[in-house]
Amino acid sequence: MTNRENFGSRLGAILAAAGSAVGLGNIWRFPIETGRNGGAAFILVYIGCILIVGLPIMISEFLIGRHTQANTARAYQMLAPGTAWKWVGRLGVFTAFFIMCYYCVVSGWTMHYGFLALTNGLAGHDASTFPAQFLDFVQNPYLPIVWMAVFVLLSHVVIMRGVTRGIERWSKILMPLLFILVLLLVVVSVIQPGGSEGLAFLLRPDFSKVTGSTVLSAMGQAFYSLSLAMGCLCTYASYFNRQTDLARTAVQVSAIDTMVAIMAGFIIFPAAAAANYSLSPSDIGPSLIFITLPNVFLQAFGAYPLLFYIVSSAFYVLIILAALTSMISMHEVVTSYLTEEFGFKRSRAALLETIVCIFFGCFASLSFGPLNGVRLFDKTIFDLIDWSASNICLPIGGFFISIFAGWRLDRQLFRDEVSNFGASRARYFRPMVFLLRYVVPLGILGVLLNQVGLF
Ligand code: TRP
Repeated sequence: MTNRENFGSRLGAILAAAGSAVGLGNIWRFPIETGRNGGAAFILVYIGCILIVGLPIMISEFLIGRHTQANTARAYQMLAPGTAWKWVGRLGVFTAFFIMCYYCVVSGWTMHYGFLALTNGLAGHDASTFPAQFLDFVQNPYLPIVWMAVFVLLSHVVIMRGVTRGIERWSKILMPLLFILVLLLVVVSVIQPGGSEGLAFLLRPDFSKVTGSTVLSAMGQAFYSLSLAMGCLCTYASYFNRQTDLARTAVQVSAIDTMVAIMAGFIIFPAAAAANYSLSPSDIGPSLIFITLPNVFLQAFGAYPLLFYIVSSAFYVLIILAALTSMISMHEVVTSYLTEEFGFKRSRAALLETIVCIFFGCFASLSFGPLNGVRLFDKTIFDLIDWSASNICLPIGGFFISIFAGWRLDRQLFRDEVSNFGASRARYFRPMVFLLRYVVPLGILGVLLNQVGLF
């Protein structure tokens, strides 16, 4: 393939992939799942899932991308020409697009709240008015769409500039900023009076809460959080150079993602403890970020308006950064597909993608307002996309990737790539192939059957 760009540095490659992984999932799901599934016990189970299922799949995706240096759809075609495997690549591109269409809606909300926080629009509310403030906003037919479009355009601008000057450069700016904000918020939250109780609650392992379904939800969370199975990591890896150690990069990216997720818990639980608010399992997803937390922050920090201003602004900016870098990675999956498969110029491909995403995003957004009555299987358009993308498309993609890497891929090619042609020993190779052949597909099958309710 001609004129293909590469990430210019190791750090750039890691930060870009970590940017994809660290997203809304780390902040609005992980902490609460941890809280309700036995604290540190859940974290251990989660780390186990990453080691057993997440890493082998991530390394496989890295390998497929870097070896072929092509977009996800073509990558599978190149490795298994003339077979149906190309559909796995296409499923990845489709899933990326599918997830984008609702991810941008929620990301738009975070921009609105970021704007509110920065202009002091959250002050003057209290526990009784935050829910209405949120509902008024999401039910409004126009405003959320405007913010959604602004958000998609931001990622568009980065994508348009290309791999090195767009994705890599911006990952190197946005990710360190994100780490700084996370650290700042953790410190502020933990030193609140009562904050350490929240920390203790989160870190106390309660193994009695760990059941089969805990393991399944940890696995689902690991998939979503690591951006597996939809071409994001495969596409980014197609820009890795030949020196990049795939397994090491995968470990680093997973470690960063897990650290940020745990630290999000270190922000949320101590603040809640300081505010004397007991988080419940229903405080998950959008209601956590847009209703519960503004209230918690107000209770915990409201005595000092400046502190409340800083914490709430920093928190929403943090989420915007996390969401933006994830969105960029999904955008790139589709853009590289359109560029390489249909011969579009990059700017054209990105623009087409942006317009179509905004178009479908409108329906997802309106499903909170005027289109709320449009339902399939009792789910709104938004819920339907969210549910089927994360519970159906991702496990199916992951299942086939593991089968592909474990059974179909040429062993020697696999070994050459992970060892960088003998530069490292890659002693984990055999156990990893074993996992990919047997353990990972069976594990995913469990998740899948569980999610469709058969199990
Ligand atoms: N991992 C991101 C998060 O935690 C979201 C995301 C980006 C994603 N790319 C993905 C999820 C691919 C699933 C698949 O929010």
